[in-house]
Amino acid sequence: MTDVASQGPAASEADRAVLTNRQGHPVYDNQNQRTVGARGPATLENYQFLEKISHFDRERIPERVVHARGVTAFGSFEADGTVGDEPISRYTRAKLFQEKGKKTDVAIRFSTVAGGRDSSEMARDPRGFAVKFYTEDGNWDLVGNNLGVFFIRDAIKFPDFIHSQKPDPVTFEANVAERAFDFFSQTPEAMHMVSLVFSPRGLPASYRHMQGFGVNTYKWVNARGETVLVKYHWLPKQGVKSFTAADGAAIQANTLGHHTKDLYDAIERGDFPQWELHVQLMSDDEHPELDFDPLDDTKVWPEEVFPLRKVGTMTLDRMPENFFTENEQIAFGTGVLVDGLDFSDDKMLVGRTFSYSDTQRYRVGPNYLQLPVNQAKNATVHTNQRDGQMAYGVDIAPGQNPHVNYEPSITGGLREAEYPAHDEQGPVITGRLTRKRIPRTNDYEQAGERYLLSEQWEKDDLVTNLVGALSQCRREIQERMVWHFFMCEDELGQRVGEGLGITADDVRGLPPLQTQTLTEEEQQRAANLG
Ligand code: HEM
Repeated sequence: MTDVASQGPAASEADRAVLTNRQGHPVYDNQNQRTVGARGPATLENYQFLEKISHFDRERIPERVVHARGVTAFGSFEADGTVGDEPISRYTRAKLFQEKGKKTDVAIRFSTVAGGRDSSEMARDPRGFAVKFYTEDGNWDLVGNNLGVFFIRDAIKFPDFIHSQKPDPVTFEANVAERAFDFFSQTPEAMHMVSLVFSPRGLPASYRHMQGFGVNTYKWVNARGETVLVKYHWLPKQGVKSFTAADGAAIQANTLGHHTKDLYDAIERGDFPQWELHVQLMSDDEHPELDFDPLDDTKVWPEEVFPLRKVGTMTLDRMPENFFTENEQIAFGTGVLVDGLDFSDDKMLVGRTFSYSDTQRYRVGPNYLQLPVNQAKNATVHTNQRDGQMAYGVDIAPGQNPHVNYEPSITGGLREAEYPAHDEQGPVITGRLTRKRIPRTNDYEQAGERYLLSEQWEKDDLVTNLVGALSQCRREIQERMVWHFFMCEDELGQRVGEGLGITADDVRGLPPLQTQTLTEEEQQRAANLG
């Protein structure tokens, strides 16, 4: 890791740069403020002191409301020019993917979700996996996680979900299992994600040894305006490694920042981590033949039916020169797409797309896109946006009349770009305005399948972790969670129940939640639990 000692010998006194204030005035005395006589009082016109202390007073910006603890790294993405064995242009016209060997600069930020910015990286939590591609067509952000699915499928539930994961608002006690499981017990769609977070995958051995996923369903658009649904997968060439709770506790006894240090150390020694980017594709329709909705982010797409197809490789080879400017101020968002990539109607994705830039205008400021780490540095940027807090650049194009900051104009302002061909795309959608759950909820099946496919030690670890957390919850929450686990898979229900002293007989009579509609098959399962 870079430290002061590795920066080489100190420069001689004459070679050392002179300290100034931000106005460029030399600082003659950085030890004593200006006072009337050696013992004071201090004077109010003391500009150097006031500038120094008032800048210090503002050193912190609000931390991210979620994903506050994280680390950024930089590198590049190299395209294959193909998707699996087909030319990628069949499916998307996005320029960054077209040519074999084409490289695009990237920034990535890994994170935990619930803790504050100094919290432990050994928390059992999903990990954020956010990649910014600085493409020639502007930036593309793929803001995902390491587990492939999510706890909820409608953005309107996100603030409640996050409150349940955050400290108690009265005592500020953190990691309160009862808060989290109170919410989960009433949220059947969370079972798939819960079964992942409480498995070893909820405690990755390092950021280098975890997968990444876009999680939400997006679209690709080709040159003819044809669309397909797409899900993104990042596969680490380093392999996937996880910790048990005991491993994590032993590490946390010594450091809270294990994953960040691991990444700095690896890149410092030239051991550059790599991930292959793969996609799954599906025709752009509702797929009534599937027992889940392709736009539901609590589901994975079965790989035997929708195989993974490789599209390129990402390599990370540089860490931030400054943690604040490149990690605290970097801003990702699901709305940041380039031509050839598009949104789907996934109800989470739409909500997320508003939330990210909204929070960043508050957290970093309305001109956050002018900061070097957020700029579309490989594209040309000419806007008519002006002013606002901390505006420091005006992006006037060569030859542009600088007086004209509006459009349309015939006096030398900016003009609109030519619209890409096929400005209408995707299936025709009709419907009445409503507030409804999606019909194919299927909240339990994939969680049960995942349990059955796990290795024995993973099953044991999942059960131990669930029993450990649920032991801290009241009986009604335990019973409802055991009911859900039986609905996923009998063995999981039995084993978690055993650990809590709850049997199938104890929970068989529980009615379904008001917020769920069970299919006939699920009703039968509920009637014969265990
Ligand atoms: C960060 C909102 C769901 C992954 C954030 C931030 C907000 C937010 C407000 C802070 C951004 C910032 O301060 O720069 C939401 C909402 C969601 C949602 C409203 C649901 C409707 C998800 C999902 C994933 C995810 C499903 C994973 C697929 C991330 C990541 C970050 C983040 C990785 C950290 C980005 C960074 O490193 O700066 N989210 N989020 N979020 N979110 Fe979400």
